[in-house]
Amino acid sequence: MAVRQDTIWERFLKPVFRLLIDEEKLRQFHESLDWEAESDRFRRPDLIYPDYYITQNFHGIKGGYLNSGAAIGYDPITQYLLPPNETWVRQSVIDGIQGTPRRILDLGCGTGSTTVMLKQAFPQAEVIGLDLSPYMLAVANYKAKTAGLEIQWCHGKAEETGFADESFDLVTASLLFHETPPTIAKAILRECFRLLKASGQVLILDGNQKTLRQTPWFTEIFEEPYIKDYAADSVDAWMGAAGFEAVQTHDVWWTNQVTQGLKPIPANKSTVPTHPVSRSTTIDDFSSEGFPVPAF
Ligand SMILES: C[S@@+](CC[C@H](N)C(=O)[O-])C[C@H]1O[C@@H](n2cnc3c(N)ncnc32)[C@H](O)[C@@H]1O
Repeated sequence: MAVRQDTIWERFLKPVFRLLIDEEKLRQFHESLDWEAESDRFRRPDLIYPDYYITQNFHGIKGGYLNSGAAIGYDPITQYLLPPNETWVRQSVIDGIQGTPRRILDLGCGTGSTTVMLKQAFPQAEVIGLDLSPYMLAVANYKAKTAGLEIQWCHGKAEETGFADESFDLVTASLLFHETPPTIAKAILRECFRLLKASGQVLILDGNQKTLRQTPWFTEIFEEPYIKDYAADSVDAWMGAAGFEAVQTHDVWWTNQVTQGLKPIPANKSTVPTHPVSRSTTIDDFSSEGFPVPAF
């Protein structure tokens, strides 16, 4: 896949991001890991990558996320793409959690930034991060080990995880849906529904759909193949269609949104009233030939 040279990203933004990141530090980190060995720890040889994932460039990264450069550049760039502050934006997921989940799955976990925060918030919980890129998982694993956290990393597809029915209390995804075609986002939500126990919770953090619709130029900046379709639609509606109730979307500043829903308790087992469905609100991703470029 060739990288287009005429995009705003390639011509203007990439050079700016290059000034913001410490390339020498990244190079040293890159050279400190044996990427093939580290990614092989997670790589499932039987996994077939979906076409939508391998036939597109994401943020101008040749090869998308399936390379070490994308994995190593993701965090340094993402910090600038989640205003006003990356940790504050990710904290919106933690703040939305009801109760004390014992088993948590973070889909499209990437380099594990949200996954690590989930484990820190619920140290007793079993926390699993799943992603299609073994390179992103290698960085996630490095971060968890450095922080002294026990997190399980799985190479897999969010829409078909292979985990057992009703085996999680909480399923999350951050910055995943703007990177998938809406049909896949909907399939992921159906998978979340299958995976959750009754009254289990799903939480989705991503770009603010309302803001993206009002600022169409924003969706042109990066090479993001599915972001326009994401912006035009509604995570709220997708969640309702998947069977979730008490669906709510909150703005996270004006650039992001977090949507949550609950899996209903079957009528014959219900002891508490069910919740009504409500509604409503970017993005982040990345790359360049060596270093990824967040989407937003
Ligand atoms: C923009 S990154 C977000 C990473 C991380 N969740 C975060 O908040 O920084 C999107 C991630 O989703 C992964 N991804 C895309 N489609 C996927 C799918 N169908 N199943 C699992 N992972 C997927 C990519 O490999 C990439 O690591």
